Amino acid sequence: MATPSFSIILSLLLIIGVGISQSEARAFFVFGDSLVDSGNNNYLATTARADSPPYGIDYPTRRATGRFSNGYNIPDIISQQIGSSESPLPYLSPALTGQRLLVGANFASAGIGILNDTGIQFINIIRMPQQLDYFRQYQRRVSGLIGEASTQRLVNQALVLMTLGGNDFVNNYFLVPNSARSRQFSIPDYVPFLIREYRKILMNVYNLGARRVIVTGTGPLGCVPAELAQRSRNGECSPELQQAAALFNPQLMQMLQGLNRELGSNVFIAANTQQMHTNFITNPQAYGFITSKVACCGQGPYNGLGLCTPLSNLCPNRDVYAFWDPFHPSERANKIIVQQIMSGTTEYMNPMNLSTILAMDSQA
Ligand SMILES: *[C@@H]1O[C@H](CO)[C@@H](O)[C@H](O)[C@H]1NC(C)=O
Ligand SMILES: *[C@@H]1O[C@H](CO)[C@@H](O)[C@H](O)[C@H]1NC(C)=O
Repeated sequence: MATPSFSIILSLLLIIGVGISQSEARAFFVFGDSLVDSGNNNYLATTARADSPPYGIDYPTRRATGRFSNGYNIPDIISQQIGSSESPLPYLSPALTGQRLLVGANFASAGIGILNDTGIQFINIIRMPQQLDYFRQYQRRVSGLIGEASTQRLVNQALVLMTLGGNDFVNNYFLVPNSARSRQFSIPDYVPFLIREYRKILMNVYNLGARRVIVTGTGPLGCVPAELAQRSRNGECSPELQQAAALFNPQLMQMLQGLNRELGSNVFIAANTQQMHTNFITNPQAYGFITSKVACCGQGPYNGLGLCTPLSNLCPNRDVYAFWDPFHPSERANKIIVQQIMSGTTEYMNPMNLSTILAMDSQA
């Protein structure tokens, strides 16, 4: 009798198929600033946006999407690495409905920081309390689709990426000389204040169900083309901003280790983006870049002044530039960073890299 064995094979295939689609269906949530915004600000009245050319010039559609990159950004490349069917859509995108919600969502918004008053000059951006409110709203919407218990499982099993902090220096403390914040705090006092506020945000993310959260530090803030253009006489990194990053990143890592101890679980994974960037900034040629000082798109010294616009200088080959615009890495630099996130040693990923996380969680 051919029919029963056929149906047995069929049901075996179905079981295997369901197993695969469940393990592939790990949701991905993104919170933070322009380094990880995939287009939320397109829907807002703000000047912090990347929705006109030449942004997106190397993206598959060759169109500006709101990503602050010539092509893919870090969340895109992580999505590809973890086998998602697509990069999570911006939460404000009208296309984020139905089954697509199960892939995850990107809540990030260019210009925001740990503090609510960071990026005030950008007016209408999604600050962290609002990103977390949207995450609550997201969970209510998904509950309507698949029920509360499945929604909680989806969130518990998801991967989360948090990228915050750079703007609290660049678009707050150092925004103008003698800023209100810099009169309130010295840098050695400001950093612990930021870390305490960041800790509250991370506990909120945990309380909303996140159990695997990659937290990136800042890059070497003083070395980006914008700071070289504004603060550097002969191309050396800005010492004040370098000092800020050098204090912030280790204290962030300590705070994350403390949280994990308190929670009794490695929920928070520190990504040492400072070291990842420093590698190709100090030795660009070793990574196939011709420069790490000059932005591909911009104007003025180091192409570091103002914004990247259709009128800016534009380099012909984006792959040989570490910086795409005055603040943001090129797609190729983003790929190098994600490679370290995936398989870096504990110097880069603490307590473990993403491939180890994926292997552990698939056995759980
Ligand atoms: C930021 O705003 C939220 C809610 O609007 C508030 O709960 C929080 O305390 C504020 N953070 C700071 C540092 O003022
Ligand atoms: C990171 O990932 C690689 C696999 O790509 C693994 O071989 C390596 O041991 C991991 N390193 C650490 C320190 O976890």
